[in-house]
Amino acid sequence: MHLSSSSEKIFVAGHCGLVGSGVVRALRDSGYHHLVTRSRTELDLLDQAATDAFFAAETPEFVVLAAAKVGGILANDQFPADFLAQNLRIQSNVIEAAFRHGVKRLVFLGSTCIYPKLAPQPLKEEYLLTGPLEPTNEWYAIAKIAGVKLCESLRKQHGVDFISLMPTNMYGPGDNFDLQTSHVLPAMIRKFHAAKGTSDAVELWGSGRPKREFLYVDDLSSAVVHVLETDEKRLHAAAPGGLMNVGVGHDLAISELAEAIKKTIGSSNKIVYDATKPDGTPRKLVDVSRLFSLGWKPEVSLEDGLSRTYSWYLKHVDLAASKAD
Ligand SMILES: NC(=O)c1ccc[n+]([C@@H]2O[C@H](COP(=O)([O-])OP(=O)(O)OC[C@H]3O[C@@H](n4cnc5c(N)ncnc54)[C@H](OP(=O)(O)O)[C@@H]3O)[C@@H](O)[C@H]2O)c1
Repeated sequence: MHLSSSSEKIFVAGHCGLVGSGVVRALRDSGYHHLVTRSRTELDLLDQAATDAFFAAETPEFVVLAAAKVGGILANDQFPADFLAQNLRIQSNVIEAAFRHGVKRLVFLGSTCIYPKLAPQPLKEEYLLTGPLEPTNEWYAIAKIAGVKLCESLRKQHGVDFISLMPTNMYGPGDNFDLQTSHVLPAMIRKFHAAKGTSDAVELWGSGRPKREFLYVDDLSSAVVHVLETDEKRLHAAAPGGLMNVGVGHDLAISELAEAIKKTIGSSNKIVYDATKPDGTPRKLVDVSRLFSLGWKPEVSLEDGLSRTYSWYLKHVDLAASKAD
């Protein structure tokens, strides 16, 4: 059942994170004021009894599941059991509690790493489970695939209206700028900012040739609201199996991204590519025809998104670093 009144009660799980905080902003901006949130200290979603008690007490009508154990290649490699087990537990606890307590629609957020490593591009939803996964994050991907299948199986067996959205690489205010654990875009912002005003070259990993797609967090959030507001029949006709990608529909080379970030920051530093470091997969672009067919389109250009993200970085991260010095 779709979201149709501003008074309906919506639980956003993981509201302190990049995605969850964006979803809360977008719901508020769209006039939904009956939002329920819990920080991890208030409600540990790994705790099944506590999660169930929360649903029994609060009875949310809609749920956005943006809570997860998230991390880069390094963290996945070091803590495979944590990535697999914690994500399985968080999502089963929330999805099953939502089912038991009669939630009208749940949106489960995953990632495009669920698709096979060598699947054709652009990645279509039907490529799920057609080949081996990228080994570096298979623990996380397997947990997310289980979440997609749990939503699908509950819909098949009990007719619930649960749907899975798989966003491409995201960025925006609130991103992780820690060079040890961050994704490529925030890491570049940090490197270019640190080098600005010096004669240092900015060293980037790989050849610069791989192509990637980047989605601004507010665009994902608007996609979540759009999906919550879409009539059930149309939604499930567009997304058989309940799986839908979220992306911008085009990609760019890492070298083009670097030039765009350099311009945003106003840096004149030279860029040096360390081709001894791995490039990863040559291209990663998602097929967004399902979501586009429902009338949703991204609105934030890369230029705008980078500029908003850099402003946030200057206010928060750079300030925090200078206070700590
Ligand atoms: N960021 C991306 O580029 C990207 C791309 C595609 C898909 N996604 C998907 O979007 C979802 C959210 O990602 P994100 O980037 O927003 O991650 P994030 O910033 O790390 O946020 C995750 C949130 O989940 C919360 N959480 C984790 N374990 C919890 C627990 N046991 N109990 C309660 N809360 C818990 C975290 O709480 P704390 O604040 O206490 O840690 C945090 O607020 C994930 O499913 C991810 O796969 C993200």
